[in-house]
Amino acid sequence: MSDLKFLALFGSLRRASHNTGLLRSLPALAPSGVTIQLYDGLGSLPLFNEDLETLPAPPAVAELRGLVAAADGVLIATPEYNSSISGSLMNGLDWLSRPVGASVLLGKPVAVLGASPSQFGTARAQLVLRQVLHRIQAQVLDHPEVTVFRSHGRFDSEGTFLGDEVTERLLGELLTGLMRMSCTDVSVPAV
Ligand SMILES: Cc1cc2nc3c(=O)[nH]c(=O)nc-3n(C[C@H](O)[C@H](O)[C@H](O)COP(=O)(O)O)c2cc1C
Repeated sequence: MSDLKFLALFGSLRRASHNTGLLRSLPALAPSGVTIQLYDGLGSLPLFNEDLETLPAPPAVAELRGLVAAADGVLIATPEYNSSISGSLMNGLDWLSRPVGASVLLGKPVAVLGASPSQFGTARAQLVLRQVLHRIQAQVLDHPEVTVFRSHGRFDSEGTFLGDEVTERLLGELLTGLMRMSCTDVSVPAV
């Protein structure tokens, strides 16, 4: 199997974000041959505006689209804000969803995960995220569901994941699942 490149997006701009910390822990858990690049530019993207679509894409948007296009798979760690995903993540997904029929996420293997201090560990935000990705026609990994609940006990004050057996096993399964999906050629019709 040839080497695989995954791009990891996180929906929190918080310095000590648990979701960012979760993604930072992934390279140590990744199967050999998998590299993971963290993208930290969602907060710098302009707000999506359909009027801008008639112009060349803003440089930051073009860069993100290029990174997604070049990746074999994408990981998205979402915080839960008001039972949904964050504005910065939604804004990034809106940019990535266009142009219609030529989105770089069309058919792209995507795995979702999330961490929150609540008992539900971003389950509601992940449902929203899956719905958005379904609309964009990304290929979303169904299993495992990585909902890291009571996250305040699993990260230090800097947002570093402290590590626990169950979460690490699930993260490993998520990476293996994304790896398998990335090696399977599934073509998705454009609408
Ligand atoms: C505007 C806002 C809304 C939130 N709403 C929810 C929520 O609906 N459910 C939840 O579990 N946590 C909610 N939280 C708490 C976040 O889950 C918590 O701040 C979490 O640490 C954010 O992720 P991060 O650590 O990656 O920044 C909310 C936080 C903010 C700032």
